[in-house]
Amino acid sequence: MIILGIETSCDETAISTLDIEKIGEKTVIKVLGNQLFSQIAIHAQYGGVFPMMAKRSHAENILPLFSECLKEAGLYNETRTELSEEKIQKTKEILEREFELAEKVVEFAKNVSAPKIDAISVTQGPGLEPALWVGLNFAKAISYLWDIPLIPTNHMEGHIFAGLMQKSESGYEITNPEMPAISLLISGGHTQLVLSKSLQEYEVVGETRDDAVGEAFDKVARIIGLPYPGGPQISKLAEKERMDCFAELAKTEEKKWNFPRPMIHSKDLNFSFSGLKTSILYTVKKIPEMTEKIKQEIAREFEDAVVEVLTHKTKDAIEQYGAKTLILGGGVSANKEIRKKLAELADSLGVSFFVPEISASTDNSLMMAVAGFFNFHNQKPYSGETLKADGNLTL
Ligand code: KG4
Ligand code: ZN
Repeated sequence: MIILGIETSCDETAISTLDIEKIGEKTVIKVLGNQLFSQIAIHAQYGGVFPMMAKRSHAENILPLFSECLKEAGLYNETRTELSEEKIQKTKEILEREFELAEKVVEFAKNVSAPKIDAISVTQGPGLEPALWVGLNFAKAISYLWDIPLIPTNHMEGHIFAGLMQKSESGYEITNPEMPAISLLISGGHTQLVLSKSLQEYEVVGETRDDAVGEAFDKVARIIGLPYPGGPQISKLAEKERMDCFAELAKTEEKKWNFPRPMIHSKDLNFSFSGLKTSILYTVKKIPEMTEKIKQEIAREFEDAVVEVLTHKTKDAIEQYGAKTLILGGGVSANKEIRKKLAELADSLGVSFFVPEISASTDNSLMMAVAGFFNFHNQKPYSGETLKADGNLTL
């Protein structure tokens, strides 16, 4: 089955075509085309993502990326096609909010024949609504023009599937994990512990009460003067600090910075990261001169605090629910220290551990296509006009 995946929930415009097949217990995934445009450079100068600028950039890039993706997949066929006035009008209506895109999509459909795609999986939410609408309306338009079933897919479910996708010779493979499973989802907008008693059954059993982990990384980065997105920057500095400390093992000094581990001993599975960020803000304000070395030390102590809390709560969740599998997902799962400590945790508890390859940790459309494939098999396709983007969509 050929699935088109579309992701525009935040600052990545991503489109891919995947050939996905169920062979016995396995799901075999071949990537035919994969295009991604990151808006990081656009947002970096402002220190964060501006929803309306994200929307504009998605609208500019989505069609060229789609076109490129079809070419890459060998699904692009230039043929002059007559479109009825009714089809043109209806397409323009669907893309009313992205007017310039509407004209271009109509032109495209007049010049390219219907590609052989069996279903379109598009991110419905959660995310930035203006950004989500671009992907959703674009998906609706091509679904309508070429009569392809549409599958609205939850972005967080996508992150879970990114964790389950294991690299194989032909691309990726998914073997259904042993249940129950606990997923730790850590991204720019979410920090959640999710219990699955069976595949695609989700119950959020713990979440952040304030900032998401990725948000905390980005805010702390800004506090110590690092560019957006802060996660990878903090991670690099923290790693360097660990290496330096390792090299200087002889003169072990006392820890200079001590940041809180918020809610680590609370009885529930919830998180809180805004206190940790504030504590760093106050500490930094008292430092007369910020040096590279201090930045490095703070990054490391912050990362250690985050890792300790995440590991502790995940351990509690696994034990509480007798989970046999741990799945890590979300942009922050690209963090090396977090991957390492959670792998050690899974190992010590004797549970299987699934983690996305680094490039599939952050937002991408492969994971959306794969999650959509599973939705399609569970008879969840949707092709109504009433489909809406939902910034707060829950699992
Ligand atoms: O999942 P994602 O790409 O977008 C959302 O759905 O939010 O996650 C983006 C978040 C950002 O906050 C970014 O700073 C963080 O993931 N991130 C990292 C790392 N790479 C990306 N955080 C810590 N360490 C990293 N290596
Ligand atoms: Zn994400």
